[in-house]
Amino acid sequence: MSDTTIFIPKDSRDSVQLNEDGWITHPRGETIEVYGPAKGHAIGCVHAYEPSEIDQRIEQLAQGYQTWRFTRLTDRARLLHRWADILEKHITPLAQLLMLEIAKNRQDASDEIQRSVDFIHYTAEEGLRLSGEALYGDAFPGHARNKVSLVGRVPLGVVLAIPPFNYPINLAITKIAPALMGGNAVILKPPTQGALSGLNIVHLAYEAGIPFNVLAAITGSSRNIGDYLVSHPYVKMVNFTGSTPTGQHIAQITTMMPLLLELGGKDAALVLSDADMTLARDQIVSGAFSYSGQRCTAVKRVLAVDELASSLGLAIAEKVRTLTVGLPEDNCMITPLISQQSADFVWELIQEALEQGAVALTPVHRKDNLIFPVVLDYVTPSMRIAWEEPFGPVLPIIRIQDEAEGISLANASEYGLQAAIFTQDISKAFDLAEHLDVGTVQINGKTSRGPDHFPFVGTKSSGLGAQGVRYSILAMTRLKSTVVNLGHV
Ligand code: G3P
Repeated sequence: MSDTTIFIPKDSRDSVQLNEDGWITHPRGETIEVYGPAKGHAIGCVHAYEPSEIDQRIEQLAQGYQTWRFTRLTDRARLLHRWADILEKHITPLAQLLMLEIAKNRQDASDEIQRSVDFIHYTAEEGLRLSGEALYGDAFPGHARNKVSLVGRVPLGVVLAIPPFNYPINLAITKIAPALMGGNAVILKPPTQGALSGLNIVHLAYEAGIPFNVLAAITGSSRNIGDYLVSHPYVKMVNFTGSTPTGQHIAQITTMMPLLLELGGKDAALVLSDADMTLARDQIVSGAFSYSGQRCTAVKRVLAVDELASSLGLAIAEKVRTLTVGLPEDNCMITPLISQQSADFVWELIQEALEQGAVALTPVHRKDNLIFPVVLDYVTPSMRIAWEEPFGPVLPIIRIQDEAEGISLANASEYGLQAAIFTQDISKAFDLAEHLDVGTVQINGKTSRGPDHFPFVGTKSSGLGAQGVRYSILAMTRLKSTVVNLGHV
């Protein structure tokens, strides 16, 4: 391990690229700025790859893949464990980067990196236990036992991993680690806000011994190079987390290629009359406002039976008013949103709902891209905020007459990521869960992705395919059958 230096820009003019020998500061060529949401200005720049540079880098990966695919599982696991150990030693500077790049608060930033360390270790172990099966011909009419199929899994080739801004380290690693363990080579295309974090975790992967021609970080604006990367002939699988429109675009321009798409959500918390109100309040507030609501699995609407909606709304609002608002380095719960444009969209949805009759149970206040947490009662299905994904600190409460109406409203969303049910009648909870068209139902808990060995699935506009350690390895490998024709019996 020679150079485990974490690159953190000293000022906005600092520009960086990562190559086989480490950091190139002030590289030749185009750069793109990394905007610091809490700083209100650029914090640094990263190299903007040109198509010719992309071709050259992917060519290297295609060649590296031909060796990596035949490495022993135990060797892959050893390198992954070493990568995780190095990352764990750098939690503090990497968390500093997350605070700068995406205004994630200190604790959440540290937790994201620790979660990634744990994910890599678990992936290395899980990958060792992937097995296949042997099938005998005589199980099917007309065939003899001398025909045996040995069924195993093989890698796909060069995998393109595209994580979102809100988890630029964790949702990079939940793509990279299973892909590598499955024998693939990986291109990481980090989000621009999160690019410095992405470059640094790849740099540390090289220090762990993961080969330069097996893992690459290609930075640049998705507008400029996104389609080029997704359509590149050497790319054999795309693993994307981001907005639904972008995910749908990727699905439209790719043909005959496996995809893993983690997209938007409008997760509903269905609160029934017998719910534990304190539990529901605490879980809903945490689920709705962690990282300022910038999570695809955030609670984005409360569907509450009319008889308790007012008391629940007031209880939620009382707790929301205690949330800390400010800077990530002060570990505030509510921090500046990722961009002014994002904040404008959230603000527009709030203002429209108020104009149409929604009632704010908390102060409605904004300072640039910092929006104070808002709880809106009396939201109706005629309002945009009942259906659109704000990706910000706002929680609409929609009153329902009964659970049937709750199920109907929950399923009417274009999204189908997760839903939560709060009731003390577990049999009823399971029955209602059966009727919810989502990937995951949380019973008496907030909607969330973890623990990360659980399947993480989105339906409808929320995604395609299943993540989670084992599911991700399976999604980035394929079956292969080798049939042995033994002596004729
Ligand atoms: O928004 C990204 C999605 O993966 C959320 O993950 O762990 O916050 O539920 P989590």
